[in-house]
Amino acid sequence: MAKTNNPQQGGNARCPGTSFQDLLDLEEVEVPLYLRENSCDDMGDDDLDVARWVSREYHDLEAKKLWPKVWQMACREEDIPEVGDNHVYEVVNESVIITRSSENEIKGFINSCLHRGRLLRDEDGHVKEFKCPFHGATWDLDGEFKGIPCKWDFKHLDDKDMRLPQVKVGTWGGFVFINFDLDAEPLEEYLAPMPDHFSRFPLHEYYKGIHVQRVVQCNWKVGAEAFMESFHTVETHRQIMTFTGDANSQYDTFGDNVSRSVTPMGTPSPHLSGISEEDVMKDILELSGRMALSTADGQLLPEGVTARKYVADTNREIFEEASGEDLSHATMAELEDAILYSAFPNFQIWVGFHGNIVYRFLPNGDDPNSCIFDIMLLFRHPKGTKRPAAVPVHKLNPDQSFSEAEELGALGPVFDQDDSNMPAVQRGMLASKKGAVSLASYQESRIRHLHKTIDKYLKA
Ligand code: FES
Ligand SMILES: [Fe+2]
Repeated sequence: MAKTNNPQQGGNARCPGTSFQDLLDLEEVEVPLYLRENSCDDMGDDDLDVARWVSREYHDLEAKKLWPKVWQMACREEDIPEVGDNHVYEVVNESVIITRSSENEIKGFINSCLHRGRLLRDEDGHVKEFKCPFHGATWDLDGEFKGIPCKWDFKHLDDKDMRLPQVKVGTWGGFVFINFDLDAEPLEEYLAPMPDHFSRFPLHEYYKGIHVQRVVQCNWKVGAEAFMESFHTVETHRQIMTFTGDANSQYDTFGDNVSRSVTPMGTPSPHLSGISEEDVMKDILELSGRMALSTADGQLLPEGVTARKYVADTNREIFEEASGEDLSHATMAELEDAILYSAFPNFQIWVGFHGNIVYRFLPNGDDPNSCIFDIMLLFRHPKGTKRPAAVPVHKLNPDQSFSEAEELGALGPVFDQDDSNMPAVQRGMLASKKGAVSLASYQESRIRHLHKTIDKYLKA
């Protein structure tokens, strides 16, 4: 069972050495304020009961009190570009049709026929109207009832009661979010301060160029948490340590819904010593899944230039070409660091001018022990050119590795390393006799923050 640890100075724990804020002092352009923010709530050091991740009761409580109340990312706007395009979004037992009902309006309808309850849409697609495949009851794209065969047999039903029930829909940065709670606060307020912090990145103009999805045999929170700390780099992703300031990462919490981690790149891990700038440069170009170049061939570090600056300038040039945007104002941090935000409960996105990575972990139906992991990458297209269509989702089989999704490049093997832990964490939690997990005070503060906000919903 969870126990309360002795009081410690959790809020003050920090790795000695160069912090992210120290690196910002070396920037050659003006540092935007959002990068200067450095605020992590001290939330204590109590153990957390493994029931949070493994118990059916906890999963049921989330289904009843969490998922019906939170804003959740359902798809990208460019997934449904034309009027009548629709996307089926499912969470636990809920099913929603997200549809473009007119050129500038997206609506969400409960995906259940008002006759005998059949799903109205089995999968994504394009329709002129919603016609139930069972007996043919029909609704228009605004959810108004159009009719049912043998109407004479339904004199007891009033058309006005036959409107399709809706969910609340909001958009931010080209993402479509839904909320089952019609009284929910506006999406922008819920996501604060992300809209402000992302103001340098016009995400609504980006397009989804990669989308890989696979079931992972772990609770959705085990998945999400695998991307909330850089502490595991030292054991799980050793190949990136030469260019990753893993233990120098900064962790921030902003209100109940948003947290971020900032992991400096182009600088060696404090776990290592004696790494040359040349080694940092070579390894980051070859092994980081987020670098614009995937090879160090022919790249020479000019005298007196740090790897961090060299890589930032390389990315700057390539990102400028991709976007047609002048990026002379971009900081080295924004051009290469892992600046990863999460919006409660399960949406995560990297800051960036090109190639932003997005993660989403959703419960896999009604199973507490598995989840659906989505990886998306957002890209730029040159100003004045037509936005490329969003790619369809590439669904991997449960036995396929992420490396088999070739479009992920160097990211694939990194996800495979994470994937070597996620199901094993779930399995190990089920076997645990301690019955609780003990979190690091600072480096795992985002995980504690996630659970603190979950508690807010479950105890409401
Ligand atoms: S269940 Fe939909 S028309 Fe009968
Ligand atoms: Fe990882």
